[in-house]
Amino acid sequence: MFNFTTLPPLSLYIHLPWCARKCPYCDFNSHQQDAELPEQKYVDALIADLEQDLPRIWGRSVNTLFIGGGTPSLFSPAALDRLIVALRTRLKLSPAAEITLEANPGSSEYAKFKEFRALGINRLSIGVQSFNDTALQRLGRIHGRREAIAAAEAAHQAGFDNFNLDLMYGLPEQSLKDALDDLSSAFALEPTHLSHYQLTLEPNTWFYRHPPRLPDEDLIWDMQTQTQARIKEHDFQHYEVSAYAKPGRACRHNLNYWEFGDYLGIGAGAHSKITDASRQSIIRFCKQKQPKAYLDSAGSPACIGEETTLSPAAAAFEFMLNVLRLNGGFATRLFIERTGLPFSLVEQPLKQAEQRGLIEWDVQGVRPTEPGQRYLNDLTALFLPQHTQRNTAC
Ligand SMILES: C[S@@+](CC[C@H](N)C(=O)[O-])C[C@H]1O[C@@H](n2cnc3c(N)ncnc32)[C@H](O)[C@@H]1O
Ligand code: SF4
Repeated sequence: MFNFTTLPPLSLYIHLPWCARKCPYCDFNSHQQDAELPEQKYVDALIADLEQDLPRIWGRSVNTLFIGGGTPSLFSPAALDRLIVALRTRLKLSPAAEITLEANPGSSEYAKFKEFRALGINRLSIGVQSFNDTALQRLGRIHGRREAIAAAEAAHQAGFDNFNLDLMYGLPEQSLKDALDDLSSAFALEPTHLSHYQLTLEPNTWFYRHPPRLPDEDLIWDMQTQTQARIKEHDFQHYEVSAYAKPGRACRHNLNYWEFGDYLGIGAGAHSKITDASRQSIIRFCKQKQPKAYLDSAGSPACIGEETTLSPAAAAFEFMLNVLRLNGGFATRLFIERTGLPFSLVEQPLKQAEQRGLIEWDVQGVRPTEPGQRYLNDLTALFLPQHTQRNTAC
């Protein structure tokens, strides 16, 4: 059923799972660092993990590398240097690769930005969340407004001409003015990218079990619409649900996820999606999630959880789930290239989406309309496997 004539672009994700303290809203695979970081052992494990996966990506260029977490900036420049050198010697890293490091604005982290830049890291993603000290305290953050500003300034001084600030809105007790003030503080620091997330209460977090008082739905809606407008006024392009970039500065790594590209994930709990042209299939797999289990098994088959081979219907759904997050939508040929499937597989649900005013569809491709962006779950539900399977049968 699949017919891949080309392979998608390939990215590498590296997960470093420790943080100075676990934030009460966070459900990422991140663990409070209680003892000294096992840096050397973890870098060894990452290298063994990569070596085991290399046959899956033989000969392919890696266009973007993202070191995420957790708080990767907790690692020493020497440990990251050893890691990056090991990656460069084992992989075909393209000369113009985007190399991002996630950083927390704790002072021990931003003091290292110059050294990170010297390692060839050319993009930082700094988790600021808010510039309001009270809000930061309520979020259980280990830094205040002063450190957040100092971190962005340190990024400029270290020569990062491309960095992102993560902000959240809809925070406990937050007013509309507070949310807009956070943006003003961010603009003054001249980032090239903003990720602006609505705070969500995720299962398995402290906030889920002890919910703080959040703004009501109407206030959240005002925050969303007014912050979106304010960010656009500052010459950022709103290109994905929560992502805004100055011209030419969209995050290439995340774009590859949203455009259903391939990615290899190494590190505790890291996920991979790889297209295998010789078997005409798309496979997904992930690594041991707990840091200890990962350290004990990296490089052996025990590190890899169950491999899933996507059915055509699941591949079509996953493509839509990702690509419809992009405000610019997608070109028809991208569906064919990335899924290896005929476009006819999704024409019926696309027609339904068009009739309901959720997409615009012309020779250029498909774009979610404003209602489509607002009711994204309804839009993507039209592509659930039972719909696409029914269409295959028709
Ligand atoms: C993997 S975290 C890494 C950033 C870094 N560790 C930090 O917190 O500074 C990426 C971003 O996801 C966002 N995030 C995490 N939990 C969230 C939640 N429950 N709701 C909304 N955004 C969240 C935060 O903005 C965070 O900076
Ligand atoms: S939000 Fe960032 S710093 Fe906080 S626990 Fe999650 S990954 Fe760690």
